[in-house]
Amino acid sequence: MPDFSAVSLHTPRLRLRPLRPEDAPALFGIYSDPAFMRYWSTPPWTSIDQAHAMIERDQRELPAGEHLRLGIVLKDAGALIGTVSLFHLDAGCRRAEIGYGIAPAHWRQGYQREAVSSVIDHAFGALALNRLEADIDPDNRASARALEALGFQREGRLRERWIIDGRPSDSAIYGLLAREWFGVNYSPERRIE
Ligand SMILES: CC(C)(COP(=O)(O)OP(=O)(O)OC[C@H]1O[C@@H](n2cnc3c(N)ncnc32)[C@H](O)[C@@H]1OP(=O)(O)O)[C@@H](O)C(=O)NCCC(=O)NCCS
Repeated sequence: MPDFSAVSLHTPRLRLRPLRPEDAPALFGIYSDPAFMRYWSTPPWTSIDQAHAMIERDQRELPAGEHLRLGIVLKDAGALIGTVSLFHLDAGCRRAEIGYGIAPAHWRQGYQREAVSSVIDHAFGALALNRLEADIDPDNRASARALEALGFQREGRLRERWIIDGRPSDSAIYGLLAREWFGVNYSPERRIE
């Protein structure tokens, strides 16, 4: 996969770009919020050092093209309100997992749909992926609804796939194919050089 450090996507209300050192306070505010982290696969953050570590890791790893994480920034206010990621990229099978989160103060305003739609366009367009998958807590109704609204299909349930704070947790697996996103005329063999 290409160098992801220069990826920048625009939507009517949002700019999606790699995290920067100055995002640390806002990022910590989001990932330390128990409401945001309720269905996440790790416990809420307890130190801003975790924000610095994520940002430093991204700055180090994005050029290798192994995962893509973008901060979701409100164009008007300039505020960081969430993140969206592609990870577990498999270039041979042209698939990746997708993850996302929006700060609770901004829920139900269409930001997930707007941000994730543009990353799906990028994944199936510029990156020529064929399949995206999402692994969510089966109780996370907001995330399930948000995926279904984008056309993802629920494909199955994996039992006790995670142990979070000592407690086993199931996964609901969702999948979306490029031809479903672009329509029936799309050819899965298509590649963009
Ligand atoms: C899941 C999440 C990203 C949704 O973000 P959002 O910006 O509020 O979502 P949107 O406003 O773009 O809505 C997208 C769709 O999901 C639906 N939706 C969002 N929140 C919902 C809720 N709490 N209950 C039911 N449906 C919900 C919306 O109605 C919309 O569907 P529609 O287009 O058919 O009306 C947000 O709740 C979140 O960040 N949660 C915490 C982090 C998380 O759990 N991330 C997923 C981990 S896999």
